Amino acid sequence: MDKEAFFSEDILADKLYDRAVIKKLLSYVLHYKASGLLSIFMVLITTVLFLLGPYLFGYAIDHGINKGDKAVIYKAALAILVTETLRLILMVVQSYNIQSIGQKVMLDIRMELFHHVQTLPISFFDKNPVGRIVTRLTNDIAAIGELFSAGVIVVVGDIFIIIGIFVAMFMLNPKLALITLLVFPIIVVIALWFGSRMKNSFREIRRKLARINAYLNENITGMKVVQLFNREKKNYTKFDGINDDYLQEQVKYIRYFAVFQPAINMVSALAVGLVLWYGAARYMHGFLTLGILVAFLAYIHDLFDPIRDIVEKYNIFQGAMASSERVFGLMKEPAEVDYTIPNPGKELSKRDFKGEIEFQNIWFAYNGSGYVLKDISFHIEPGQSVALVGVTGSGKTSITSVLTRLYEIQKGTILLDQIDIRKIEKVGLRYVIGLVSQDVFLFAGTLRENITLFNPLSDAKMLGTIEALGLMPFIDRMAKGLDTEIAERGANLSVGERQFIALSRIIMYDPRVIILDEATSSMDPISEVLIQNAIQKVTQDRTSILIAHRLSTILHCDKIIVLNKGEKVEDGSHEELLRSGGLYSQLYKVYMKEELVGHG
Ligand SMILES: Nc1ncnc2c1ncn2[C@@H]1O[C@H](COP(=O)(O)OP(=O)(O)OP(=O)(O)O)[C@@H](O)[C@H]1O
Ligand SMILES: [Mg+2]
Repeated sequence: MDKEAFFSEDILADKLYDRAVIKKLLSYVLHYKASGLLSIFMVLITTVLFLLGPYLFGYAIDHGINKGDKAVIYKAALAILVTETLRLILMVVQSYNIQSIGQKVMLDIRMELFHHVQTLPISFFDKNPVGRIVTRLTNDIAAIGELFSAGVIVVVGDIFIIIGIFVAMFMLNPKLALITLLVFPIIVVIALWFGSRMKNSFREIRRKLARINAYLNENITGMKVVQLFNREKKNYTKFDGINDDYLQEQVKYIRYFAVFQPAINMVSALAVGLVLWYGAARYMHGFLTLGILVAFLAYIHDLFDPIRDIVEKYNIFQGAMASSERVFGLMKEPAEVDYTIPNPGKELSKRDFKGEIEFQNIWFAYNGSGYVLKDISFHIEPGQSVALVGVTGSGKTSITSVLTRLYEIQKGTILLDQIDIRKIEKVGLRYVIGLVSQDVFLFAGTLRENITLFNPLSDAKMLGTIEALGLMPFIDRMAKGLDTEIAERGANLSVGERQFIALSRIIMYDPRVIILDEATSSMDPISEVLIQNAIQKVTQDRTSILIAHRLSTILHCDKIIVLNKGEKVEDGSHEELLRSGGLYSQLYKVYMKEELVGHG
């Protein structure tokens, strides 16, 4: 999927309620059942307290002011003060309570999702851009959090208030209540009209913002190419267009919003007018007390805020539903199928492990069709060092990937010390096999941390090993030795320096089998000699698999396996292969010619 399509993937759900999604969301909230119930209870209480206000007003007028009874007025005033204070205190506690539930739920979901992401097969990461997975863990979960901070409970409170006000109105005076109800069809029409337009506009805003994100993302990541190819002006103009599009949509949304609020206020005024007109007449004919009329008007005043609030919250709901759907979708991504056969016949321990490797008729494809390894068989004796040779794309890296079980083979058997690797727990397997891969990955941190991968290891021991292998010059070249700060992805290092770090990493890891995939491809000749010597020392008493395009670096290997288009075409020692005159001897001839031209 291209970046644009990814960032603009549908941001709002079409359905507001998806039973499965809500059920799953609730399952997280249920961990905090007590707090949740407390919140709902407090919302109920605050609603009742809120509704008491107008009633007390009316009561003070009818029984206090009208009758000149000061005691009643004082009592009513005191009651209003107490209920309001109580209500505000409860609101503070309630808001704190619900927000902390929201934060805890977010934490739970995020942890569960991260845990799940760690179990996903590498092939999943081949297919999904990093940005998308990060968005699930951050933005989408934040959108779910908004349900708690700004959404659900407020809307629940709003609904309580609307119902409560009607109950109070009907209890006070059913006729006036019915008159108030007359304006409701207008409200429904306005809410639907604006609601659907605001929803569409909101969706467009999100889509256009996503376009801005996609554009920025690509341009900032590729800034080097942008500047080298003088694309700045063109890209600026294009961004101007995208940006302006977004502005227009925002303005549209603001316009809807600006009209929507006064429209609701108009209806509110209409309701007040109707009640005043009818109520005043009733009052003058003595069918209604002034207090009830005032209380009524106060209720109408309070009735329309929650209605407006609900319409405005609609978008938050939709956003949260869509985000939940996507988060739960990622959670449903099948975890890596572990073919590890339970109860392995023999436990693998680093000490007893000899390092014998055998491939028996291996077939492997990254995705269903198209085998990239075809019927590969070979045998590596313990302690042997073997080279994999072949043109780009011939399947060398793929062999290392299936051996470390980053990917699972489809057919055949791989044996380690005569044990089917599917019977070996992955943890154990990766404990004995160490791989330096073609694309070195470095973490932001110090050189030390990148070599030890945050395992406890003393500097003395680390430097001792590096010294013994003759690799000190690399450390000395670093500005602050082991304390040198390394930028994200190793951006502040040369490619050769990164390769050195990757190699040191594996040496400290001390595996029984070492696989080096193009470990010296970016070294100058002098550095390469240093590294070669180190590699020879390191691989002396270990099984090793070396991959290199520079054939000079593999001459000393015990065996060379030559691959072509996923098939093994020949194997043998350097001399044997040269003598047989196959693909290897051709590659070698070309290589030697290049070397001579290059260095002569
Ligand atoms: N993650 C992947 N998903 C799908 N196909 C892949 C993946 N990695 C490699 N391939 C394909 O598998 C084939 C073998 O790739 P592999 O990386 O094993 O080649 P290689 O021999 O290591 O090449 P190079 O010398 O360039 O490193 C190639 O055709 C490649 O396009
Ligand atoms: Mg490769």
